[in-house]
Amino acid sequence: MGEAAKEMILVLDFGGQYNQLIARRVRECSVYCEVHPYTLSMESIREMAPKGIIFTGGPNSVYEENSALCSRELLEMGIPILGICYGSQLMAHVLGGEVKTAPVSEYGRTEVSVSDRDSLLFREVSGRTICWMSHTDYIADVPKGFHATAATTACPVAAMEDAGRKLYATQFHPEVMHTEEGKQMIHNFVFLVCGCSGDWKMDAFVASAVEQLRKKIGDGKALCALSGGVDSSVAAVLLSKAIGKQLTCVFVDHGLLRKDEGDQVEAVFGTKGSYDVKFIRVNAKERFYAKLQGVTDPEQKRKIIGEEFIRVFEEQAKKIGKVDFLVQGTIYPDVIESGLGKSAVIKSHHNVGGLPDFVDFKEIVEPLRLLFKDEVREAGRQLGIPDYLVDRQPFPGPGLGIRIIGEVTEEKVRIVQEADAIYREEVVKSGASKGLGQYFAALTNMRSVGVMGDGRTYDYAIVLRAVKTSDFMTAESAELPWDVLQAVTRRIVNEVKGVNRVLYDCTGKPPATIEFE
Ligand code: XMP
Repeated sequence: MGEAAKEMILVLDFGGQYNQLIARRVRECSVYCEVHPYTLSMESIREMAPKGIIFTGGPNSVYEENSALCSRELLEMGIPILGICYGSQLMAHVLGGEVKTAPVSEYGRTEVSVSDRDSLLFREVSGRTICWMSHTDYIADVPKGFHATAATTACPVAAMEDAGRKLYATQFHPEVMHTEEGKQMIHNFVFLVCGCSGDWKMDAFVASAVEQLRKKIGDGKALCALSGGVDSSVAAVLLSKAIGKQLTCVFVDHGLLRKDEGDQVEAVFGTKGSYDVKFIRVNAKERFYAKLQGVTDPEQKRKIIGEEFIRVFEEQAKKIGKVDFLVQGTIYPDVIESGLGKSAVIKSHHNVGGLPDFVDFKEIVEPLRLLFKDEVREAGRQLGIPDYLVDRQPFPGPGLGIRIIGEVTEEKVRIVQEADAIYREEVVKSGASKGLGQYFAALTNMRSVGVMGDGRTYDYAIVLRAVKTSDFMTAESAELPWDVLQAVTRRIVNEVKGVNRVLYDCTGKPPATIEFE
């Protein structure tokens, strides 16, 4: 259980697409929440003593062979349960209701009529409300003790409950944004049905994490690979508060960072910075550039950068000698995702946090493994980390190496760094950065003819990318104001030597990816 929280909601994952989102919504209510597979044992559930349980949706039908089921015992433990979509059908099925397959699926935004205005789940929710449906099976008959509390034109039981046993179910997905009053419903379940008080607060988390780290590490030594990204920075500061100079941060500058980024990281964590840690900056750009010379294949570039990073880090670790603890900036979405089935490898991600097992250490500490990204940022703020570090956009481990299409050279790094800095500066200045998930400049390996000052040029084209996304698994290209794009273009062609054309990427993900390689 989360160190700083006394109460928790357990999300049991039946294979739904939105399981993380459910946990997010619960945490937004300041209630601690964990996601576990539906196979979690009754014994573990008893031990966790959750204040409530939420069953997620899932791809199965309750009648399929090998479908994900739960025991009647779980439903009769007296712990409040909310079943969502498949979870609602499962609740009906296990308790003796009837689930049927509809001739056509109900999919998308759907108007739901709430028939039981006294239902706690629908307290302060409109009588007619737009919800997100995505199902083929439906509850045709509720189990004994239940009654339908909402319906749609196609679905007689859009929600049902047995308030006496604190069992609630919705056929729609309250966790997705398209369910307009979904947040209120989750809030109602968590506070009115489960009786939570909302004790999951970041300041309490930070204080207790520092305390726990102190206890765990004692007078041992810890090593942290610092990338300057949000996660590793927050992890490092948390550790510095706990153990000070027993922590060594190694920052490998591979020469593929954003403009001035290396110096910014050093300013915060180095000897002139505000933290009491040992800080080693390794300037290794020549090594990386040499390894990347002549290499154009994206996967090969990723592998080379990843491996070289590990090599440099390992050399430093050897110099430092035996360390007891290796600090990793793993966050909760990584934990949830690594527990699920394997999906196709689109790109081999090099995460600076992911280090080799041959570094000589006793144990890994992952102080952020329970936090979502925005909670990590909040913890960072609590710890007094400067905004420009805390609010940083995600930046890939291989850095500009995968934003330079084709061969990487020092000259190309300079071009993309300068263009990217101008782009980010203008976007922030214009206010257009709000709502963007990620935006950056990349360098195509296309050169084309231009004319500048009466002379012919044959220079590179910069491509600008800006996407809206909440999960980085899918994204849509953002519509930036034309005057901002024009201002950026003007500045880039005037100020960045070697560029005579600026393009804008209008592609979403899929079919493209966010990065270029
Ligand atoms: P793609 O390009 O796959 O990117 O759509 C999705 C998100 O992941 C980031 N990304 C990486 N992050 N190591 C990382 O730590 C990597 O190797 C890596 N490659 C992509 C990318 O910036 C985007 O946020």
